[in-house]
Amino acid sequence: MEVNPDAGRVDSAADRRARETEEQMTDDERFSLVISVLGAVPGSAAASTRDPRIPEDVMMSAGYTPGVPRLGIPAIQSSDASMGVTNPGYRPQDKGATAFPSLIALGSSFNPQLVREGGGAIGREARDRGFNVQLAGGCNLARDPRNGRNFEYYSEDPYLSAVLAAAQVQGIQRQGVISTLKHYSLNCNETNRHWLDAIIDPDAHRESDLLTFQIAIERSQPGAIMSGYNKINGEYAGGNQHLLNEVLKGAWDYPGYVMSDWGATPQWQFALKGLDQESGLQADTLLWGRQPFTDELREAHARGELPADRLSDMVRRILRSLFAVGVDRWGPAPDVDMAQHQRIALEGARQGIVLLKNNGVLPIPPDRPLKIAVIGGYAQLGVISGTGSGAVAPVGGFAGVIKIGGAGVMGKHRNLFLFPPSPLEELAKALPHAHIDFDPGYTPAEAALTAKRSDVVIAFGIRVEGEGFDNADLSLPWGQDAVIDAVASANPNTMVVLETGNPVSMPWRDKVAAILQAWYPGQAGGQAIAEVLTGAVNPSGRLPVTFPEGLEQTPRPELPGLGTPWGTAVTIEYNEGAEVGYRWFTKTGATPMYAFGHGLSYTVFKYSDLKVTGGDTVTAAFTVTNTGDRPGADIPQLYLTEAAGDQRRRLLGFERVHLQPGESHRVTLNAEPRLLARFDGTAGKWRIAAGTYKVAVGRSANSLDLTAETALTSALFGA
Ligand code: BGC
Repeated sequence: MEVNPDAGRVDSAADRRARETEEQMTDDERFSLVISVLGAVPGSAAASTRDPRIPEDVMMSAGYTPGVPRLGIPAIQSSDASMGVTNPGYRPQDKGATAFPSLIALGSSFNPQLVREGGGAIGREARDRGFNVQLAGGCNLARDPRNGRNFEYYSEDPYLSAVLAAAQVQGIQRQGVISTLKHYSLNCNETNRHWLDAIIDPDAHRESDLLTFQIAIERSQPGAIMSGYNKINGEYAGGNQHLLNEVLKGAWDYPGYVMSDWGATPQWQFALKGLDQESGLQADTLLWGRQPFTDELREAHARGELPADRLSDMVRRILRSLFAVGVDRWGPAPDVDMAQHQRIALEGARQGIVLLKNNGVLPIPPDRPLKIAVIGGYAQLGVISGTGSGAVAPVGGFAGVIKIGGAGVMGKHRNLFLFPPSPLEELAKALPHAHIDFDPGYTPAEAALTAKRSDVVIAFGIRVEGEGFDNADLSLPWGQDAVIDAVASANPNTMVVLETGNPVSMPWRDKVAAILQAWYPGQAGGQAIAEVLTGAVNPSGRLPVTFPEGLEQTPRPELPGLGTPWGTAVTIEYNEGAEVGYRWFTKTGATPMYAFGHGLSYTVFKYSDLKVTGGDTVTAAFTVTNTGDRPGADIPQLYLTEAAGDQRRRLLGFERVHLQPGESHRVTLNAEPRLLARFDGTAGKWRIAAGTYKVAVGRSANSLDLTAETALTSALFGA
């Protein structure tokens, strides 16, 4: 497919200005725009060593690109931002940013409005520091519960991930700050990610990870797309002709720019395949021993191998995004209300906590003089965070940092970070009549002694997951499973709070009375955990990923390449195709430990009166009623269960509904038609087969209360 950078695009003011500005640029100016320089050289003795290409008066960032003042082009400065504005030691003077919950926690909220507000807060904190590009919008699908970065992604479902990622991008860009969507595409495992070839059927890719990007791009118009580290079907993401030139810029007509991930540009020829900007040059030196978009790109241009039109297109795309988002028109600095941002972080943590199991021990009554044992998980210090480029240094600093280490370039960034306040102090506040003992969970025997003399046991299970590492299995580290088993054996009123970035195996599950999945809940996590345990907040999170009974239920019981040394070429075949997560479980008929969409409440919701209409798409209306005795939020989910005779499970829609006891709400959901279709690679379009479509309203992918069917007409549409 030929790529015409202007094909089918509305010739907006930003397009026109980009074109007119680019025409006035010198080649030196053009080349200066297609690279960014990392604030500090990784691996250098002093982490804060300033790269000489960054002027003295410029704030250190993940990527710096000089502007062209004579043409009104501002310098471009980016920082990481999945969960808040990061500062990997570049800026000692920085007083800290709001550490929001991990994206998988926000995925559990099913609440785009809240994610948008979080994006707005990130945008304001970025702008306050002079950052005009945020490396946010992580939306890879959680295909494998071992992936060390699933905490930086929203879910295993394309639609949920797209809706939430788009909300974050909207929130950030409304502040006049560009946001990326990343990592395009199929960057779904960390194992030897720089040498990882992710294999997938191209049509199944369109129906899964690519559909996430497609919908999120349409909804939020991100200024930039960050390509992944891995190869897809043999070609690196940043130099993938099919994915960049044919799909993203061709079929989808994406007008913004593609930046590489840091250390993911081994060749200048990636420019011909659709990459517009090489990010963090020094990271490429570290990985590949070169900086291809500097001298090599200039030489290719001089030889005529990089056409002048392509160089212009690269530059225009960058300029277009700057102008479209308004990076060049910043007025006075926004009002950064850190107290309000804390409230957003707290609400995210509250809505992100998922109550997995409760045999009636929760909530803990706040008015009783109970003896409570709090065990393990550094719960006396704080809540933990995921690690890697997305980790945020909070205002006031961490409550503790413990170096873990590991192989590869990310080993030195692998730390156990603890955010204050601690769950222990928050529980003490929430339970003024209780007597609370803390035991560190140092040994199973010692912890069991504390558990035995208590009325109630709250055991914390933590696992640090992060960039550059896949989890070897689903167990908790440091013998915590044995500690939890021992305290649960000693006391039947044991409840477990998990701070992990993925499902864990929970060998003690049947012995404990309650389980709370708190993920990495951010700086307000300690408070939110205490509020949910004591009933001040009614839990409302729903799982955005399936919790398997074990790896044997997943598409890859063995993860290829796991444990091979840094630098080993790895091939992972994503043979599940578009049948990711709950869809895989439907296909195989296996029953997971906890299904996608599962989450308990302290009240009860009933669904009734489902009415469905068909035609071009499915529209479903139904009533949700709170029949319990507490206010609370529910997230009813609409699933496709059969499509013209084909058994196919797809989340078609959801709505977060807050209801008082006895209150009802009528929900109406319109399905995104691509979720009802299959991608026809030969036609390059989506195809809906005429026939009967069965849908269900449920409380999880496995718990479907109401069913109905309707007829759809055949259709071939979109691209
Ligand atoms: C990560 C990206 C991040 C970049 C810049 C990379 O290691 O994969 O997500 O934006 O670093 O810090």
